Formats: sequence, structure tokens, C-alpha cells
Amino acid sequence: MAFERACALDEIQADKALAVTLGRYDLAIARDGDEVFAIEDTCSHAEVALSEGEVEQTDGGCQIECWLHGSMFDLRTGKPTNFPATEPVATFPVDVRGTDVFVDTETTLNGVTPA
Ligand code: FES
Repeated sequence: MAFERACALDEIQADKALAVTLGRYDLAIARDGDEVFAIEDTCSHAEVALSEGEVEQTDGGCQIECWLHGSMFDLRTGKPTNFPATEPVATFPVDVRGTDVFVDTETTLNGVTPA
């Protein structure tokens, strides 16, 4: 694993993901309280940045909404929870070290190969 610094923890708003480019991947970094998630920043339905959508607490956990057609993606699994998206986006390992967020883009947590 090769964790790289992605951002400071306080750069991530509660209701909005932070867009970060790390290595060759564009990431959307979001938080649910003290827990931080890094997902591929491209909707699996079309070439739209998920980081431009809102992060919401739902009954099913913390999700990010694609602004274009409204699919919600579970930040833990990367899976869409409603149509029109049907394919998951990649999720990456995150390590919070003090006030900084590190992400490993050499592997994915859910086995999805980033686009
Ligand atoms: S582009 Fe994201 S749901 Fe259609």
C-alpha cells in the first residue's frame, strides 16, 4: 500500500465532497463525522463529477448524490442505491493521520477498477 496525502481533514465539508487529484485518479473525498471516504470522482452512469453533488445522511448510511440524474452512491461500498446508475464506482483505502487525510490509490476496497 502506498498512502499519499490527499488533503487536510478540515477541508472536507459535511455536506460536500472535496475533489482531489491523486496520482492518475480524480477522487471525491467525503466525511461522515470523523470517518472519511475516498471514491472515484466519476459517476458510473456518465462522465460527471460526483464531487459536484451533495453528501447526505440517509437511512442506508452516508451517500453522495450525482447532480445530473440523481443516483445516490453509498460512500462505503461505492454502489448506487437508485437508478439510473447501476454500476459501482471504485472506493479507495483512507487513513486519517492527525489532521491530514491519506489515500491509497494503488488498490481499491471494493475491487472495482477505476475508469
Ligand atoms: S450521470 Fe450520474 S446518474 Fe446519470
